[in-house]
Amino acid sequence: MSTIKRQQIAAGNWKMNMNYNDGLALAQALVDQNPANNGAHMVLGVPFIHLKGVADIIAGADHIHLAAQNCSEHEKGAYTGQISVDMLNSVGADYVILGHSERREYNAESNALLASKTDRVLAAGLIPIFCCGEALNIREAGTQNAFVANQLQESLFHLSAEDFGKIVIAYEPIWAIGTGVTASPAQAQEMHASIRALIADQYGDEVAEATTILYGGSVKPANAVELFGQPDVDGGLVGGASLKADGFTAIYNAFPAE
Ligand code: PGA
Repeated sequence: MSTIKRQQIAAGNWKMNMNYNDGLALAQALVDQNPANNGAHMVLGVPFIHLKGVADIIAGADHIHLAAQNCSEHEKGAYTGQISVDMLNSVGADYVILGHSERREYNAESNALLASKTDRVLAAGLIPIFCCGEALNIREAGTQNAFVANQLQESLFHLSAEDFGKIVIAYEPIWAIGTGVTASPAQAQEMHASIRALIADQYGDEVAEATTILYGGSVKPANAVELFGQPDVDGGLVGGASLKADGFTAIYNAFPAE
């Protein structure tokens, strides 16, 4: 995929849920319930072993796309258990989720490592969905904007403007992930505007305006309309609520008319 414009995206992050058959059934239900392209992209972030099967199911739906949840920073070789971007490409992935807070925490993924993975994903022609976001203690200290700015600086701001223009950003406050506590629409908007301003400083207004910035953290059918209605919120990265076809379909249809 080449440079993308600002795009409404409802991205599901299945995490380590769904066995193969249940995952394929969910993908099929989403295809069945969302036959029409409403202008937004639905992205399914599935476990590695589901990628090819889901790719086959969504093949006829040009509004439904496929994401991996991680990749190796290495090109290929003796890295037992790792998955390369070339492998992801060969099964039809369009996106790779990078730097999810669970990977940062449980797999010690650093900003520097994520810079390498970002380069690898872009070189393969895939689109990174780059996750950033602060823990509760940082939010309580009021330093969340500086914290997120540092994540972007250390992992993304080495990119050329052209390459940066291909990135999707997902702001996911850690205190809102899987907790049922959602950032208020005002909190999400404030951080998204701050991220966009940072991008404008680094790459100019045109790139900043074209950047897709998703919100993640307890997005549900009940709050998606208000969140997606914020001017700088271009969609969501959705964990728990992406595991049910009805609920994720409602979220996919929560965008304001363009
Ligand atoms: P959640 O997860 O929607 O279950 O809070 C979001 C995420 O981790 O991407």
